[in-house]
Amino acid sequence: MKIDKKSLIMAAILSVAALSLSVPWVSHAEEERHEAVKRRSGDHEEEGERHDIIRAQQNKDKNRAPFPESALYKQECSSCHFLYHPGLLPLRSWEAVIQNSDKHFGENLSLEDKIKDDLLSYFYEHSAEKTDSKWARRILSWSAPSVPARITEQPFIIREHRKIQKSVFKRPSINSFSNCGACHPKGAEGDFDEDSVEIPAK
Ligand code: HEC
Ligand code: HEC
Repeated sequence: MKIDKKSLIMAAILSVAALSLSVPWVSHAEEERHEAVKRRSGDHEEEGERHDIIRAQQNKDKNRAPFPESALYKQECSSCHFLYHPGLLPLRSWEAVIQNSDKHFGENLSLEDKIKDDLLSYFYEHSAEKTDSKWARRILSWSAPSVPARITEQPFIIREHRKIQKSVFKRPSINSFSNCGACHPKGAEGDFDEDSVEIPAK
């Protein structure tokens, strides 16, 4: 076959046209891939939140987890502060609290070994891992694998309170972020639902 000048030029024009058309296609496909990867590896926060909304609809009580009563826990751990629901920390943190109870935020709790063991058994049964509530699940997934020493230093707890001004925590009837019961009147019953929050004015 004889290749004439005309068809050579035609072929050249066609391949330039194809190239210029394929460039946007390539970049578009690339973009789509990026989007898909972003969606998949995605913002865990949003992902978790979407699941949470579905779960909350399935069970409106999911922000409430009954307080597992224990006379011993109440006796040993509520004289200086709010009696924290055991679902507010992962087990590894409660273990650290008990292990370091002679240096407890500047206090020596002077716990006997038997009492330490009994408290550990209680936390073993009722830590965040064993608590069926939305907040406990998020406390767990957001703090892993760290060992938070405080409830108030956990990312999920910090995030939920990020809109509250520092000065609010200093109001006399609140005094500190750690004083959960001041704003969560049902917190002692394991109810931290935003519907039952009441921030004291003074
Ligand atoms: C002698 C007083 C006292 C007793 C009893 C006591 N604590 Fe504390 N606890 C403190 C102090 C002080 C802090 C630090 C408070 C602050 O910085 O606002 C604290 C803080 C905490 C925190 C961190 C709160 C936060 O900010 O997230 C946890 C958890 C905790 N205590 C658990 C326990 C447990 C469990 C027991 C029982 C074994 C216990 N406490 C008994 C004095 C006490
Ligand atoms: C100054 C008042 C105040 C104090 C003190 C406080 N909270 Fe809150 N908390 C709030 C408010 C307000 C919200 C609702 C935030 C929102 O949804 O906009 C909230 C939300 C929460 C949520 C999320 C509830 C949901 O519906 O998802 C949890 C869990 C929680 N608080 C636990 C705690 C714990 C545990 C403590 C103590 C260590 C504490 N809070 C101390 C005011 C407070």
